[in-house]
Amino acid sequence: MKRILITGASGFVGSFLVEHGLELGYEVTAGIRASSSRRYLRDERIRMAVLDLSRTQVLTEQLRSLGRFDYVVHNAGLTRALDGADFDRVNHQYTRNLADALRASGNMPDKFIFISSLAAFGPGNPDSMEPIRLTDTPHPDTLYGKSKLRAEQYLMSLPELPWLILRPTGVYGPRETDYFLFLKSVQQGIEFRMGRKPQMLTFIYVRDLVRLVYVALEAPVVRKAYFVGDGQVYDSREYARIVARHIGRKPLTITLPLGFVQAVCVLLGALGKVFGFTPTLHPDKYRVLRVTNWNCETVPLAEDFDFKAEYDLNRGVEESVGWYRREKWL
Ligand SMILES: NC(=O)c1ccc[n+]([C@@H]2O[C@H](COP(=O)([O-])OP(=O)(O)OC[C@H]3O[C@@H](n4cnc5c(N)ncnc54)[C@H](OP(=O)(O)O)[C@@H]3O)[C@@H](O)[C@H]2O)c1
Repeated sequence: MKRILITGASGFVGSFLVEHGLELGYEVTAGIRASSSRRYLRDERIRMAVLDLSRTQVLTEQLRSLGRFDYVVHNAGLTRALDGADFDRVNHQYTRNLADALRASGNMPDKFIFISSLAAFGPGNPDSMEPIRLTDTPHPDTLYGKSKLRAEQYLMSLPELPWLILRPTGVYGPRETDYFLFLKSVQQGIEFRMGRKPQMLTFIYVRDLVRLVYVALEAPVVRKAYFVGDGQVYDSREYARIVARHIGRKPLTITLPLGFVQAVCVLLGALGKVFGFTPTLHPDKYRVLRVTNWNCETVPLAEDFDFKAEYDLNRGVEESVGWYRREKWL
């Protein structure tokens, strides 16, 4: 039975990674924090490991005592923060710590997958609307993206680490909480648009992403990086139409000027700093919301892993809405 360690196992993507690993017959260790929710980690076959990603020496000892894993998927990450230092600490420094601890423990896995983000490359050209290509020079314009890129660059500098980097675009599906807010507002009868220019969006359904991760772990491909999307590009208005169809409402459209969205993000960010919470809308998020071109090249992914998404947006949103309804989120 192959052994796999998944960090960030308590989160949205991580919990699906754990479930799929169990379905495929792996011995799955869920890397979590002491404070992590175990809501989606109830299967008794799951081995729990409370890891200290902040201290390399402690982590090295923890990894030694856990024994060698065939595969490590480093999925833990901070997606929402008000401070660049927090993004850097969790997304960059903790990734370094994990890689260093694996090396120091002498328990190097056969493959180490890092769940990065399309944000590490920054948005595509808003004039040409050409897809972001793997050969482009990364130019992340968010603190989040910069922290992911620094982590990638460190991993790529380690010749002994069998790394593979996956850079998902927007991941959606059951349990997800950010795109969910858009579904919720459509359910309440309002479709908010960010600025007048339609945005070209790309997505990957969470079940397709986790299926791909296991295909990539087993494939004879190493030291390469890929963008991960379902292979299609969606106009933001088409996205809204698909959501409205599955929610079963005809929402009122309200177009928010980008200047207004920015002001709200700055204000909420300032309130968050004062009152000690991280709002969904904050200055770094504004830099994501204003982007008009999130198209990215997915042909290399399809070719190297023979990967074809099973879910387009229509099917994925339908399944997600069903889940949100069953769980009474909608
Ligand atoms: N969702 C997307 O659209 C998307 C797109 C591209 C890339 N990604 C990447 O995919 C990964 C998973 O994201 P997600 O959407 O599943 O986010 P999520 O639901 O917020 O899950 C994040 C996971 O990382 C853990 N984590 C956060 N801060 C940590 C810290 N300081 N120390 C240790 N663990 C920490 C969380 O643990 P707790 O439960 O204890 O907080 C949680 O398990 C991230 O690396 C993210 O950057 C996501």
